[in-house]
Amino acid sequence: MYGIDVLETEHKNIVAFTDDMEALALSIMEGDKVDTGDLRRRVDFIRKYCDKHHHQKEEDFLFAKMVEELGDLGVKLIRHGMEVEHGLARKHVLDLEGAIGDFDEDPSPLNRLQIISYLMAYVHLLRDHAKKENQVIYPFALDHLSKEALAWVDEKTRQVEEGEGTKKVYQDFKEFICYQPHKL
Ligand SMILES: [Fe+2]
Ligand SMILES: [Fe+2]
Repeated sequence: MYGIDVLETEHKNIVAFTDDMEALALSIMEGDKVDTGDLRRRVDFIRKYCDKHHHQKEEDFLFAKMVEELGDLGVKLIRHGMEVEHGLARKHVLDLEGAIGDFDEDPSPLNRLQIISYLMAYVHLLRDHAKKENQVIYPFALDHLSKEALAWVDEKTRQVEEGEGTKKVYQDFKEFICYQPHKL
């Protein structure tokens, strides 16, 4: 199914990005220079790709249909599960951004530690979240949503993938994106 194939391919990009973030956190822990400009660019990528491009597609299309068609179980899995984790990811990014600003003002070991911890909080959350969606949520949606709902998700996903906003995100963040879902 096109819509879910796109989301799964985006997970590959997001998980590859978390591997890169973990390597960066390790280098900062070992005493390497903290490049706050590079960190801010990563925050920008998370917001524009991982959140706005990926999470928003889930929330607006696939998850919206799961809540609509799957009753209490849909509400539990999505509203009290996946969407809570999306909110937590947004909070980690906000905290990471705050820690970057604090480090710019005072490059102390404590502010270095805060950057490392928020980087890793985001890494662990997103890895676990993507795995849960790949292994539980998406297969459940494929098995239980109506054909009409899945076709609607495909159509809406295609509109986003072919839009100018998506092309710009792929253009602007080439260095972080290894897989190109819109070419599926
Ligand atoms: Fe998600
Ligand atoms: Fe996801």
